[in-house]
Amino acid sequence: MRVSWDIMRDGLPIIIVNLKTYEQGYGADGFDLCKIMEEISIEHNVNLAAAVSAIDLVDYSDNLKIPIFAQHIDGINYGSHTGSILPEAVRYSGAIGTLVNHAECQMNWEDIEATINRCRELGLLTVLCTADVEATKRGAALNPDMLAVEPPELIGGEISVSSAKPEVIRDSVSAVNQINPEIPVLCGAGVKDQADVSKALSLGSQGILLASGVVKSSEPRKVLIDLIQGL
Ligand code: G3P
Repeated sequence: MRVSWDIMRDGLPIIIVNLKTYEQGYGADGFDLCKIMEEISIEHNVNLAAAVSAIDLVDYSDNLKIPIFAQHIDGINYGSHTGSILPEAVRYSGAIGTLVNHAECQMNWEDIEATINRCRELGLLTVLCTADVEATKRGAALNPDMLAVEPPELIGGEISVSSAKPEVIRDSVSAVNQINPEIPVLCGAGVKDQADVSKALSLGSQGILLASGVVKSSEPRKVLIDLIQGL
């Protein structure tokens, strides 16, 4: 089943699991992980989504009942752009949207704006990733569907943004509220358990973008069940 835009718009708070290019995060293993997320999402009535490799978008979107995001997209039009990820192709894949400017796939502001605009034209949701409060403010002015602030030095680490830099979450939320309160602010980096999630939400965040804590875990179901208790 392909998940519609409308389901997603009501889908807050949300946990988006980014499968990155982890060994466990593509093909059949990545699918099994997303299937666990689907089961938990249905059983516990919580919003879980996955950001997956471009190669897996069609398969996962066709066969899973959770929203599937691309990890990256290029703000290009049809033409000679070998190797680029065409927005129309992502829409065709059944993905609901895309991360934009993830810390591991950064873009300049011109490309970020072009990508957000192309996605808007096509009805693809954008989750604009930012590194700090200043970038979050600048990004909010481009009207993405969501922002996700992630201090890069905490990504993949053991200490969460909620514990190490709560002010980044709080100040990002308050800055975005002044620019466009309709844009939900997610946060991420180092999030591992329900305490991290509930602290992030208590600071005004409306969701979490996370990766290693779930994807690299030998017990992802257990970790996810714990994480959703914080929603
Ligand atoms: O996209 C999510 C990410 O960058 C955070 O990664 O491993 O710190 O949860 P992680």
